[in-house]
Amino acid sequence: MMGEIRAEHASIAELVPSLPRRLLVAGGAGFIGSAFVRLCLEQADPPAVTVLDKLTYAGNLANLAEVAEHPRYRFVRGDICDRALADRLAGEVDCIVNFAAESHVDRSILDPDAFIQTDVYGTYSLLEAARKHQHQRFLQVSTDEVYGDVEEPQLSVEGDPLRPRSPYSASKAGAEMQCLAYHATYGLPVVVTRGSNTYGPYQYPEKIVPLFTTQALDRLPLPVYGDGGAVRDYLYVDDHARGIATVLARGEAGQAYNLGQGGQLIDGMKVAETVLRLTDRPASLIQYVSDRPGHDRRYALDSRRAAELGWGPELDFDAGMELTVAWYRRRRDWWEPIKSGEFAEFYRRNYHPVAGAAAPG
Ligand code: NAD
Ligand code: TYD
Repeated sequence: MMGEIRAEHASIAELVPSLPRRLLVAGGAGFIGSAFVRLCLEQADPPAVTVLDKLTYAGNLANLAEVAEHPRYRFVRGDICDRALADRLAGEVDCIVNFAAESHVDRSILDPDAFIQTDVYGTYSLLEAARKHQHQRFLQVSTDEVYGDVEEPQLSVEGDPLRPRSPYSASKAGAEMQCLAYHATYGLPVVVTRGSNTYGPYQYPEKIVPLFTTQALDRLPLPVYGDGGAVRDYLYVDDHARGIATVLARGEAGQAYNLGQGGQLIDGMKVAETVLRLTDRPASLIQYVSDRPGHDRRYALDSRRAAELGWGPELDFDAGMELTVAWYRRRRDWWEPIKSGEFAEFYRRNYHPVAGAAAPG
């Protein structure tokens, strides 16, 4: 079948019996967290899932509408930095899976403060709660951006030094180093995942794939940073969510696991061209904008350690993009209210067209 790149991996159904039975999913109303929650709860005999989410601009209960009535689901609105709340909820579960974060690099460049609060202090708050209640697992959802810019042809492996270069990636590196320190110091059974750039349904339209897709559908400019040559390893969201479940079920405490699509490194121009092809829009929509300060030129992961646990992505970039663009085409009801609100102000602050730079074609 087109797009299916690896058939042998553990399905969620196979993993569920090995998952802790009561999960606190912090940040579960966001993009990847909600995919993880939906994936868990659509299984037979799933773990009980409590979502703790502050519902920042990026959190959205519509992402969890499919599971809202599920008997093993509960939603609590709150801040992971609230130590008393974290402690109370941790006392009711066996494990925390921490997705909660400020997650967008460009916003971290404009306003780093919330990144330090949530990503660093908030993770500490959850770790303390997990330690007190002697949890059987703590999974920290981290990112490949902690490795920083990676020279060609190198692939990052888990033992590589962390060299984060944006306020976002530095906050995430700080968070995961605390997690690994809690394992070394207190024996907390922590595992860390370092996922690559993720895309798919329900992603807030500030990251490149949903931004370009929604812009193209509306016949608006696709803002390409610099020369459009920075490359990323794009992973479909369900593959990422299943990778997190695999590491939660099978990972070794104290270890980090890369989760990358592998094989295809895609640059910004290729994302733009793919979106334009799938939406049937002209290349003249491409607009060059001034580059992101400190823009990492390349991320690339070696995910063999996760493969040894029985994980591999199912979809390649073309297959994942077809599903994604089809979803955004269908779900204007989900993204139109977002783009007309807070997002419009962020867009004005963040993007600066380069005078005289012509769009291709
Ligand atoms: P997202 O921005 O869509 O969701 C983040 C969620 O966390 C939102 O629901 C938000 O309301 C919640 N949140 C933020 N601050 C909070 C706080 N103080 N207390 C409680 N909840 C809070 O992010 P995402 O793309 O789903 O990313 C999830 C995790 O995965 C993040 O930790 C991110 O660093 C990591 N990650 C993301 C990618 C990617 O490409 N999106 C790749 C690798 C790793
Ligand atoms: P992004 O989706 O923000 O993820 P990250 O910076 O966390 O990797 O950006 C992915 C790539 O796309 C990155 O090289 C920057 C580029 N990009 C653009 O060219 N234009 C945009 O509007 C955005 C958001 C990103």
